[in-house]
Amino acid sequence: MSDSIRGNAAAPAPATGKLAIFTPGLGAVATTFIAGVERVRRGLSVPIGSLSQMATIRLGKRTDGRSPLIKDFVSLAKLDDIVFGAWDPIPDTAYESAMNAGVLDKADIEPIADFLKSIKPMPAVFESRYVTRITRATNVKTGKNKRDLAEQIRADIRNLMQSSGASRGVMVWTGSTETYIAPGPQHQTIEAFEKAMDENDDAIAPSMLYAYAAIMEGIPYCNGAPNLSADFPALLDLAIARGVPVSGKDFKTGQTWMKTIIAPGLKARMLGLEGWYSTNILGNRDGEVLDDPASFKTKEASKLSVLHTILQPDVYPELYKDFAHVVRINYYPPRGDNKEGWDNIDIKGWLGYPMQIKVNFLCRDSILAAPMVLDLALFSDFAMRAGMKGIQEWLSFYYKAPQTAPGLQPEHDLFIQQTKLKNTLRHLMGEEQITHLGLEYYQ
Ligand SMILES: NC(=O)c1ccc[n+]([C@@H]2O[C@H](COP(=O)([O-])OP(=O)(O)OC[C@H]3O[C@@H](n4cnc5c(N)ncnc54)[C@H](O)[C@@H]3O)[C@@H](O)[C@H]2O)c1
Repeated sequence: MSDSIRGNAAAPAPATGKLAIFTPGLGAVATTFIAGVERVRRGLSVPIGSLSQMATIRLGKRTDGRSPLIKDFVSLAKLDDIVFGAWDPIPDTAYESAMNAGVLDKADIEPIADFLKSIKPMPAVFESRYVTRITRATNVKTGKNKRDLAEQIRADIRNLMQSSGASRGVMVWTGSTETYIAPGPQHQTIEAFEKAMDENDDAIAPSMLYAYAAIMEGIPYCNGAPNLSADFPALLDLAIARGVPVSGKDFKTGQTWMKTIIAPGLKARMLGLEGWYSTNILGNRDGEVLDDPASFKTKEASKLSVLHTILQPDVYPELYKDFAHVVRINYYPPRGDNKEGWDNIDIKGWLGYPMQIKVNFLCRDSILAAPMVLDLALFSDFAMRAGMKGIQEWLSFYYKAPQTAPGLQPEHDLFIQQTKLKNTLRHLMGEEQITHLGLEYYQ
């Protein structure tokens, strides 16, 4: 791990006091996350899907028999110590939004209705040109320019930290996918970025203002959508300068998660790939936003990169050169948040004989994403206390398009990502990293 990422870390300070988790976006994912944390706190549910709450980590040799829960090994914020803050251009409380999202059953929402009703979104920085399909955007900030709007977000962060008594904060973008923006000169240095904010430059999207505000307030930023957000030199340099961890982009939930499980398996057996066709039907608000070609372009870019980096066609041209890869998302309201994805995978084996794999995944998008919000928030807070700053590649496990240091290929293989995550925790806690060499039996 390079010093620029690791910083001059001493032993991480313990997680004492409250942690404020800020979510720009109080839609399906955010409310499923918040409701889940509250249900677990009240002993009503189990935090299934969360590594920070349920996974163990092996320490030392296999014969040592040491495999504590991750949360007992590293000092993570307790669920009871979490407070929530959200922004959304739609004024619904977390209760109304959760009911509209239709992810959780009424029977699961009602017992915590009082709590969800107490979470009201702060007015958002929002412009419909970046997310065209949102109607009802009435809860929106006004300001003299984009810099002023970013300053208002910073003030919101400080106010909520103060009123809730939180000593630390972390921000996870759970807002809509914005239209595609390519990095330009405005994104290269912090001076250019601040000038562009002053000039209301179109290249500065709302999610960038939230990311800027978080970093300026010393709060880690995690990007659950494929938006450019904090993935450019100006904000990455700012994050290093301010000692703030950042990570992104785009939660790796349904189909891409499956891809990063199956593709490493094909490559491990040196089986070839002729083509991979993926299609989805999805009926929630996210699906509606992604029905807009400009928002889908952002998503497509993040979904397409995965197979090439795992399969390395340049290293294995006989197996993977020029395979076809198609990804489609279709908005289909009857399914709500229950996405259905189909994958048709054309593979080839010994002597080039063709075979097919079909995957039909009936998944619940927000049920898969919610525990990731929790883990990213808790691990990013831990990273901050451990003196980590800039891009947190060890959190690639959670992302479709992991941010990496300039010039590096992202790691997409889920199992390499998992090893990296756990080894980073071991390393930060002064334990040996595990290589799975199994040499202990020969020593
Ligand atoms: N659910 C998944 O499995 C999954 C996976 C990967 C990525 N994501 C991404 O996570 C994000 C949230 O997904 P969702 O299903 O909750 O969508 P959603 O549409 O239910 O919620 C998004 C919310 O963000 C709000 N919003 C839009 N612009 C905003 C702004 N500028 N400031 C504050 N709030 C803003 C919207 O009003 C909406 O309430 C999307 O970008 C989605 O692409 C979700």
